[in-house]
Amino acid sequence: MTVLITGGAGYIGGHAVLAFLDRGETPVVLDDLSTGSRSAIPSEVPFIFGDVGDTSLLLQIIEAHKIDAILHFAAKIVVPESIADPLAYYLNNTAKTRALLEAAVKGKVRYFVFSSTAAVYGNPNRATVNEETVPAPLSPYGMSKLMSEFMIRDVSAAYGQKHVILRYFNVAGADPKGRHGQSTANATHLIKVAIETALGRRPFMNIFGNDYPTPDGTCVRDYVHVSDLAYAHLLALDQLRLDGVSRTLNCGYGRGYSVREVVEAVRRVAGTNFEVRQAPRRPGDPASIIASNDQLVRLGWKPELHDLSVIVQHALAWEKSCVIRV
Ligand code: UFG
Repeated sequence: MTVLITGGAGYIGGHAVLAFLDRGETPVVLDDLSTGSRSAIPSEVPFIFGDVGDTSLLLQIIEAHKIDAILHFAAKIVVPESIADPLAYYLNNTAKTRALLEAAVKGKVRYFVFSSTAAVYGNPNRATVNEETVPAPLSPYGMSKLMSEFMIRDVSAAYGQKHVILRYFNVAGADPKGRHGQSTANATHLIKVAIETALGRRPFMNIFGNDYPTPDGTCVRDYVHVSDLAYAHLLALDQLRLDGVSRTLNCGYGRGYSVREVVEAVRRVAGTNFEVRQAPRRPGDPASIIASNDQLVRLGWKPELHDLSVIVQHALAWEKSCVIRV
């Protein structure tokens, strides 16, 4: 049986592809290349260019490749963009997930692993959030993912499909072997922006808000290495195949760094003192969000790349190698 990875040409999906290959399994990738890149997909991996909302294409793929599990990464992921253009997020992240689920049900796909987000929790007002924390998204992005979560649970209940919903905290870093990393143009994510600034590709960077109720006034996030996260998908799918128990799991390390601490880590690792400007708060930003990851750890998750310096080192190495390749 074969795994289908939607969004496998993208940042997180691409690392999942590598994780499968590293253990000797070849997945199939479906991607519309809207943000991902064809060159990110190793040549031995079957690639289909197409839309996750195209139910008939999906049915063909499921049949042709005997797909028994779908890992659904393809999505739009930028919080401020979702506030400016919510309909794009509800189409891309919610309506297309519905279409994909329909294909999965018609094609009798047994397992569905979904990329959800800590953004479903909104501004939780507690030190850490566990999976029972009542969701209250602050952005259309978080809401678009939460709506998909509800659909997935209803589909499992009605048609017997089994699922794992993984709620990612702040994903960063790059493949330790340098095979893949975050290549998205005009990235808005903190570590990526700070590294681009450190490398002189941006004249300065902004810190959005310094009056949050956090130790240094800047927002606190739980930064998780993308390769540890990719490995969590394999673990979750293996367990799902073993016991058939549907689950919702936080994917974070259970510790937080402020924006200032991240900037200092990038300065230290890159060895440069780039310019940072103070800017107003960014809409949709919770003050602090840190995972309780007990459930994932109980399943056997053993993250190895949790050191913030390691996350930054890998992201920096990837960013430098991108220039060499051009
Ligand atoms: N930030 C800056 N300057 C920048 C970029 C970001 O100060 O140039 C700040 C943001 O305001 C925020 C923090 O850095 O306080 C992290 O921002 P990111 O844009 O890196 O990430 P978000 O926390 O907004 O969102 C990310 C993912 C979501 C996911 C969420 C989970 O984009 O998909 O983490 O916490 F849901």
